[in-house]
Amino acid sequence: MANLQALKQRFIGKFGGNEAGIRSFFAPGRVNLIGEHTDYNGGYVFPAALTFGTTLLVRKRDDAIIRFASENFPTEAEITLETAKFEQEHDWVNYPKAVLVHLAKRGYTFGGYDLLYLGEIPNGAGLSSSASIEVVTAFGLMTVENHKIDRIELALVSQEAENQFMGVNCGIMDQFAVAMGKSEHAVLLKCNTLDYEHVPFKAQGCKLVIGNTNKRRGLVDSEYNARRSQCEQAVEYLRVAFPSLTLLGELNAEQLKAHEGLIPDETVRRRARHVIEENDRVLKSVEALKANELETFGKLMIASHDSLQHLYEVTCKELDVMVEEALKVPGVLGSRMTGAGFGGCTVSLVQGDQVEAFIAAVGKAYAERTDYKAEFYVGEIGDGVKEL
Ligand code: GLA
Repeated sequence: MANLQALKQRFIGKFGGNEAGIRSFFAPGRVNLIGEHTDYNGGYVFPAALTFGTTLLVRKRDDAIIRFASENFPTEAEITLETAKFEQEHDWVNYPKAVLVHLAKRGYTFGGYDLLYLGEIPNGAGLSSSASIEVVTAFGLMTVENHKIDRIELALVSQEAENQFMGVNCGIMDQFAVAMGKSEHAVLLKCNTLDYEHVPFKAQGCKLVIGNTNKRRGLVDSEYNARRSQCEQAVEYLRVAFPSLTLLGELNAEQLKAHEGLIPDETVRRRARHVIEENDRVLKSVEALKANELETFGKLMIASHDSLQHLYEVTCKELDVMVEEALKVPGVLGSRMTGAGFGGCTVSLVQGDQVEAFIAAVGKAYAERTDYKAEFYVGEIGDGVKEL
């Protein structure tokens, strides 16, 4: 957690004035426990908010100028909402700008602000640093303007901003988890209806250990979009049997099995199988957690990774090596990649007294077998966006 007092001093150093009128907000990163590449298919996801994320200090100004600065990136920018548009050289500032523009489109009014961000989420690690920046901006500025806050609307606006302003075709999972997370709970979300449930994560002495491959998610944009369109193709073929089908997440494993012959392309068939079976795994995971069957949940995590590796093909050597090495360590119940894939992080369920041994063993083997050095974070489940 950021040292707020020190951050306020740096805010004053940058923007002048004193502490009066500075308000502080925090939005977490997220880790997805299971349910990968199901969100844009209208399926289930099961993410949790982390205790580290993005802190934002805001102070209103008397004019319409909005000034952005970050403790993490050198780029700073000064804009007005009226003229705000995507500008390559504005780098990270495009994310908060995107959210402001899309909130304004919905009729919300804003003024001028000084804004200072501090991010603790490693970039490009698949722990939703961008969703965290988007949601903290939306929540912070809506709060200082006394606009009524609907957290689900903020998640939707942030996703829309990322899709339309940033040109990244993500689903709703990340923004939803960041806006709606709850300490010690994971969020079961049905992505086509946005029905959700906070499910207690009773870890029974186990820890969620996040392993960062430090391989930045390379191919992610083009491959992500390719997967999306393969899923749409699968829906087209399956409509012969299910005329009103719009998203793969509407089908269950039996229905697909009975009709997968309608999909002529072998790759597309594998993509559909992943999505539909992964959906089932999410529901089974929730049942297992509710019944305190952590071992069953661990096995579902392993099956999820296997499917992402072989059916959906969104892993990479580094993710596969990290999971493989994790599963060799005693006291590991499950391990899988988390997020979009092609690099980024894994999440493992590890018995508390084995965490140190796990980090040492996996870190060593990973460094030997790849060109990267791993980093590990013991994930605590925290709250969604809030004022500090
Ligand atoms: C990224 C996207 C999410 C989701 C995951 C894969 O994190 O932002 O919407 O699609 O990939 O599950």
